[in-house]
Amino acid sequence: MRQTIIAGNWKMNGTRASAEALLTELIPLVVDATAKIIVCPPAINLETVSDVIADTNIALGGQDLFWKAKGAYTGQVSASMLLDLGCEYVIVGHSECRGRFGVPEPDFTPTVLAYFGDSDATVNLKLRAALANNLTPICCVGETLSERQAGNTDSVVAAQTKAALSEVSAADATEVIFAYEPVWAIGTGEVCAADEADRVCGVVRSAVADLYGSEVSEALHIQYGGSVNAGNAEALLAKPNIDGALVGGASLKAQDFAAIVNAAP
Ligand code: PGA
Repeated sequence: MRQTIIAGNWKMNGTRASAEALLTELIPLVVDATAKIIVCPPAINLETVSDVIADTNIALGGQDLFWKAKGAYTGQVSASMLLDLGCEYVIVGHSECRGRFGVPEPDFTPTVLAYFGDSDATVNLKLRAALANNLTPICCVGETLSERQAGNTDSVVAAQTKAALSEVSAADATEVIFAYEPVWAIGTGEVCAADEADRVCGVVRSAVADLYGSEVSEALHIQYGGSVNAGNAEALLAKPNIDGALVGGASLKAQDFAAIVNAAP
């Protein structure tokens, strides 16, 4: 049986002090967890969080990385920098980094939206840079509402999955964690029904089976993300194709995040 993996994506929230307070409350609530627990704070708070979670059962992840090792890339963060701060995981291809927002931002005109420029090609470069540096990528895939309404959910999700794995070996592919995150469910409070989330996680697994065969796809961990909370986590995590959750808003509240962690089957 695959271990449940619960990751908290704090996005652009918190200060060093609030990060410390959140973790101080969380740590005793999850000491007996059977799930693997990961927190992904903003890059600037990684060092603080790394110190607070040392000697606990909570692991550290970055929210994004740049694929080059070093150089003249203003504002970017490399895999080795994340490793240096104690990260073992990194999110790649989050829909917000791809410029696909669950909650429309009225002031994000097309030229502003272009700032969030991740494409399937850059997600692949980031995923491979993570693997090459022994960071486990949490690779996000998911359809927008209009793609779902057009009946393209499965083709979008399968295409994103396969593109992310371009030029990745079977051995490395086994290490990747996928997160199926329907864009319309992110930050909206509108969770994907557990059966449907399970079905689309199965689409991810089938896409990986197409590339590498069933041994790799059966070993693969696939999370669901999008408005996961203390009330819906148990039903989602009980599904056979859902091996964990990538949690945004609810990961900012210790009690809620702990309840999700402790809902692991
Ligand atoms: P949410 O975000 O839980 O706030 O919907 C999930 C995510 O974006 O990873």
